[in-house]
Amino acid sequence: MAERIPIASDHAGYELKERLRAALTEAGFDVSDIGTHGTASTDYADYAHPLAQQVSSGAARRGVLLCGTGLGMSYVANRYPGVRAAVAWAPDIAELARKHNDANVLVLPARFLSDEDAIAILHRWLDTEFEGGRHEGRVAKIERDIERDDVADQASAGA
Ligand code: RB5
Repeated sequence: MAERIPIASDHAGYELKERLRAALTEAGFDVSDIGTHGTASTDYADYAHPLAQQVSSGAARRGVLLCGTGLGMSYVANRYPGVRAAVAWAPDIAELARKHNDANVLVLPARFLSDEDAIAILHRWLDTEFEGGRHEGRVAKIERDIERDDVADQASAGA
């Protein structure tokens, strides 16, 4: 059965999302398009939340987000437990995000990429496995619980 892969963008990423949706379908994925569905102005968080929920819950193994810079989408997605959203602007970044960081959400800065470059980044990310080994423990440390009190304690310790 084909892997279901969710994709979402705001208006700034809409046109590139359409290209990537086609590329994913062509590559044999069952693409789940969360939106947006046009160029009307939208709020990136409205699309990042549902996609990140799918990856965090395990409903989807990985997903793709796009906005103008990639930043807003990554801020939202990285708030979810187990989500590791990587902004990638070159294929080598996408490869290292998989090999070293086990990135399960690819975030593309749509306003700064050609269609060709974006598709090359997408394929590199899809095709690269996590290296494991010394990176296992590093990735595991990302999920440490951070309470408001810890932040205050650390800030006063450093003061
Ligand atoms: C939209 O203008 C833009 O702010 C958004 O796509 C994104 O770049 C935010 O991080």
